[in-house]
Amino acid sequence: MFFEIHHELHYRYGRPVFLEPHTLRLTPRQDGTQRVLSHTLQLSDPADGCSVVLEPGGGDATVCWFSDLRQRLSIRSTAVVETLRQNPFDWILTEPGSQTLPMAYPPVQAQALAPFLAGGTGDPVDDTVARWAAALAAEVEHRTTDVLMHLADRIHHTFHHVGRFDGEPMPAAETLAQRQGACRDTAVLYVDACRSLGLAARFVSGYSMHHPPEVSEHELHAWAEVWLPGGGWRGYDPSLGLAVADGHVVLAATADHRLAAPVSGHYRGTGVSSEFSYTTRIRATPSEPDRRRGTAVLADPLLNRDTGFSHRERRALGLEALLPAAVETLDVQVQRVWEGFCRLQGSLERFTYLSRLRRSNLTLFHAFLRDHVEEALPVVYTPTVGAVIEGFGHAHQPPDLGVYLTPEHQGQLPELLRQAAPGPVELVLVTDGAGILGLGDQGVGGIQICQGKLAVYTLCSGLHPGRALAVTLDVGTDRASLLEDPLYPGLRRPRLGGEAYDAFVDAFVAAVAEVFPGAFLHWEDFGNRQARRLLERHRQQLPSFNDDIQGTSGVAAAAVLAACQGLGQELTQQRIVIFGAGTAGCGIADRLVRLLEAAGLEPAEARARLWAIDRAGLLIEGEPDIPPAAQTFARPAAERGLFQAGGDGGIGLLEVVRRVRPTVLIGTSTVRGAFSREVVEAMASATPRPVILPLSNPTSLAEATPADLLQWTDGRVLVATGSPFAPVPWEGVPRVIGQCNNCFLYPGLGFACVAVGARQVTDEMIDAALKALAAAIPAARDPGQPLMPPLSEVRAVSRAVAEAVAVTAVEQGLARLAASPAEALACLDRASWEPSYPPLD
Ligand code: NAI
Repeated sequence: MFFEIHHELHYRYGRPVFLEPHTLRLTPRQDGTQRVLSHTLQLSDPADGCSVVLEPGGGDATVCWFSDLRQRLSIRSTAVVETLRQNPFDWILTEPGSQTLPMAYPPVQAQALAPFLAGGTGDPVDDTVARWAAALAAEVEHRTTDVLMHLADRIHHTFHHVGRFDGEPMPAAETLAQRQGACRDTAVLYVDACRSLGLAARFVSGYSMHHPPEVSEHELHAWAEVWLPGGGWRGYDPSLGLAVADGHVVLAATADHRLAAPVSGHYRGTGVSSEFSYTTRIRATPSEPDRRRGTAVLADPLLNRDTGFSHRERRALGLEALLPAAVETLDVQVQRVWEGFCRLQGSLERFTYLSRLRRSNLTLFHAFLRDHVEEALPVVYTPTVGAVIEGFGHAHQPPDLGVYLTPEHQGQLPELLRQAAPGPVELVLVTDGAGILGLGDQGVGGIQICQGKLAVYTLCSGLHPGRALAVTLDVGTDRASLLEDPLYPGLRRPRLGGEAYDAFVDAFVAAVAEVFPGAFLHWEDFGNRQARRLLERHRQQLPSFNDDIQGTSGVAAAAVLAACQGLGQELTQQRIVIFGAGTAGCGIADRLVRLLEAAGLEPAEARARLWAIDRAGLLIEGEPDIPPAAQTFARPAAERGLFQAGGDGGIGLLEVVRRVRPTVLIGTSTVRGAFSREVVEAMASATPRPVILPLSNPTSLAEATPADLLQWTDGRVLVATGSPFAPVPWEGVPRVIGQCNNCFLYPGLGFACVAVGARQVTDEMIDAALKALAAAIPAARDPGQPLMPPLSEVRAVSRAVAEAVAVTAVEQGLARLAASPAEALACLDRASWEPSYPPLD
């Protein structure tokens, strides 16, 4: 545990006084259980001299002396301390006579421990305290270890704990009689009780990350240490009722509590009044607190606020003179970014502009995305990101874009992931660049799609941008133009395949599970050959999600469901043609079959509602070259006779449409214009309200444009596209075109899994997500409305999706962090990150 401690003590005197030398015991102890990483001690008006001295108890103190008269003395101590003892019970009693009390130390130990046995004052332990301790010891048959906890427990549970800011501790007998006291009173009582049982014990002052319930905030704390043969000095905290582990920081530990006082010293001045006040701030964190200053702060996009730092923060972080004078709000900064954005015309220039902002100030970047989602999202994500990936080697990429792993790294993946992530990581977004968008193999440039999707995660769901990692598995590329390009920055070799590829991916998944336990693994654009296989191979190992298969299928299925709802039809009535049986096409087919089965169809009946077409035409059983993932959607061989094959022997789309008379047509083929006028008119002639989803990206590869579809169907079509399209004027009214954007689904789903600590991503969670999305689609209520929500609503939709997924995870018993739906929703609230500048401590 790491402690950041700020402790200030202020003494004010009625008039100027002469201060005798003062001893300050505010330096944390340095030993095997705590490491002092930094410590400063400052006086408001410097003393005439200071000396660090070694105390009788072995700790450091600072003695200060003064020559002039002073009316106040302010002492400020700051420290960063790492506490190392995680288990307070990692010891055994080594002396045979030490198992039970009274303790009989071997003579040589007893001699060394004499001051702690007799008490620093030499006063014998009060009889009432000794009798009380003896009775408690008897209750646990005098077993040494039990007595120590029993004493602490009894004081914690049966005494009234009070805050008392200054003054010496009360005598033990008085605390016992009143059954109440501050922590230093109960510490003295505990020490005396131990001594009466023959245990060497001492008084400890310091800080604790906990504070007793009766004390509202942190303050200087006190507890006891007991010397145990085999255990050495061990801390017991009676006001908290616990054995001390790494939740406490020791300042001083002494036989006589007076030698542990944080400040001792006198002033000369008869009849002068004095006042004392203090502040203590303690922050305990599992990882080392950030102590960067100056340009190092401005260089970290998670810390940097540019002109958003207040003057106080600028002073504390060493930023004075490194920033223009004005202190600005996030809103003002966003306004400035917007002006710069509008001045740029091209989307690539805008991408570069926003990338620079992202690397410099993540909070401002996300505030800008939030406030200008419709303009900024197409720039940082699709479609612009496609062009950025294609030009990856031809524009300078600063090296902080993500993690690049090659097969040569295989033996050291855990170390490399640790090195790449400065803090905890909850979500890893990985690609091997094999099937990027509709652009095929893009090699190492695929890292940009990971970055784009991470931006969308945060924008839509509130995923913490500092806890996500973009990774590219650079296994080479099969694209000749990249291999020949002297500026291609990736591994210049054909793609790794076969067992070597699997071994590399296996090693990567194992490293993620080891280094980031519980992290959500988002697989992106692994291409048709690997995507489904890898998902199946690893989905039990850690929460795994493939957006091309599960995300796309969820969004497309949500559009189909919403269209059915809007048209007042059942899903089971639909005849669905999928053109392009690749990763996305097969994923959509799988999902629709699940939904059809859930609606009451037998598996074979459900599959019979679908016709899948690929390069060689309609998939029919027994045909060669049907990819494994598409096999289940092949029509029975007996149906071949129902269709007329084309010149190449395949059954084409037009023929399928004429014979099948589909109600739903989905395009995932990357074949521009495949939904020709002839095809669409054939469909529209048999179906009053055709549902058509030309999903291929980018815009140039869409199977049809919405304008053509509206024209060819006399406006009867319900359309949602893969790429964004401008509204189409239709009968004098602009028809808004819904974009089947995966960003309506995956951010809420991934975020929910992270927030509730989902152990797996199940099909039930994806079903829940897509149904939540379907419910938010305007066409579900009115088929004249868009078949996807507007991008401006993406955050609200993501929240609905996240809630549905989180609750399903709880219902399936897969949520590590939530036991009930209410807790799941609270987890979402807690995990949600918003771009803002809260005051820094
Ligand atoms: P993929 O390469 O795995 O699949 C494309 C499939 O189309 C392949 O099976 C290919 O053989 C087939 N195909 C190619 N030419 C054909 C032809 N002339 N006739 C019939 N089939 C043909 O690619 P993936 O990942 O499935 O993506 C496909 C398209 O869908 C891409 O443009 C992608 O951007 C888009 N997509 C859209 C999404 C959305 O709108 N939410 C989400 C995911 C993908």
